[in-house]
Amino acid sequence: MVVSRERERRAYSYALGELIRQRAWVEIDSSALAHNARQFKALLKPGAGLMAVVKADAYGHGAVRVAPILLEAGADSLAVATLGEGIELREAGITAPILLLGGINNPAEIRALAPWRLEPTLVSREQILQVAQTLAEQGETLPVHLKVDTGMSRLGIPWQETLATVRLIRELAPLQLQSVYSHLATADDPDPTVMNQQRRRFQEALTQLGQASLLPPVIHFANSAAALQGPHWHYDLVRVGLGLYGLYPAPHLQRRVNLRPALAVKAKITQLKTLPPGAGVSYGHQFVSDRRMKIAVVGIGYADGVPRGLSNRLQVLIRGQKVRQIGAITMDQLMLDVTHLPDLQVEEVVTLIGQDGAQSVGAEDWAQTLGTISWEILCGFKHRLPRILI
Ligand SMILES: Cc1ncc(COP(=O)(O)O)c(C=O)c1O
Repeated sequence: MVVSRERERRAYSYALGELIRQRAWVEIDSSALAHNARQFKALLKPGAGLMAVVKADAYGHGAVRVAPILLEAGADSLAVATLGEGIELREAGITAPILLLGGINNPAEIRALAPWRLEPTLVSREQILQVAQTLAEQGETLPVHLKVDTGMSRLGIPWQETLATVRLIRELAPLQLQSVYSHLATADDPDPTVMNQQRRRFQEALTQLGQASLLPPVIHFANSAAALQGPHWHYDLVRVGLGLYGLYPAPHLQRRVNLRPALAVKAKITQLKTLPPGAGVSYGHQFVSDRRMKIAVVGIGYADGVPRGLSNRLQVLIRGQKVRQIGAITMDQLMLDVTHLPDLQVEEVVTLIGQDGAQSVGAEDWAQTLGTISWEILCGFKHRLPRILI
């Protein structure tokens, strides 16, 4: 009895590929990822490297599976935000250089850097001394990266202190200064004023380093938006996230490369029903039918990453046609008006993000409706949605 139950369970888990498509899932198009990486490689000035930003589980795409594809397609190194994200990639067998973009101050975290060969971002004098001391105690050396704040007012030393800080790092034997970098606050804004001011500050810091013969091997500044604005932003490498996933950081930057979105979100119809006129739909009856309607219940909700704020404002695709979502989006389910699709069946696939026939819906469409950015939409898809690499 027990044995046959176990066998039955195993049969299901072996069939996981199919089972995973039971309710709702995310599809990741590996050829789109590789294509996007090649597009950026081709755009870069000769000799400049491509650092693939795979933090936040590769913007929701699944870092462990995405990173090898991007490396294979030409990315030279990786960047993550946290120690845990770096360790996850190392445990998956990834040996490429990994930069930790986030601030690391905690002694336990600092001790973990060298064994995992994770390269920290240095952001303050105190932290620099702490990292150097820990590495010295461990008898280790490690490539490190100095972050300079040129106007983002986030992590980093003030740009005016670059030279003094590099001098300090050079005195600390365990620290191998690999790069000096900065991050742009407004690279996706068509108005370049702030971006250019940051650039002038960065250049001034670099000039001082050059005069003191203290330039590190690598300088970097650009995210996706800056990388798309010409070779003077490329320095020795660019740190690209969003663009590798196939989205443009801003409409005015669309002409520079041809990108393909890599992520699609799909779910299945779990029930179809006919409503009489005057029937309220979902919590709060935010939608009430004004005629006899056919609706579909779909197995995906805000606990999967479909924001509740899209309720009554979302469009999805079925059989290549646009379908409107109605009523409040609930934790695990949402409803669609499918009155115009006569012979729909339970189990049919609904595309929430992605292409279906000639139609497509993008993360940027959701972002626009919600007044947010596509980065946030991509990072919002929860682990409850299995990622299927195709
Ligand atoms: C320091 C840093 N560099 C590069 C990136 C990549 O930015 P994008 O996704 O716009 O290419 C990020 C992402 O937020 C970042 O924080």
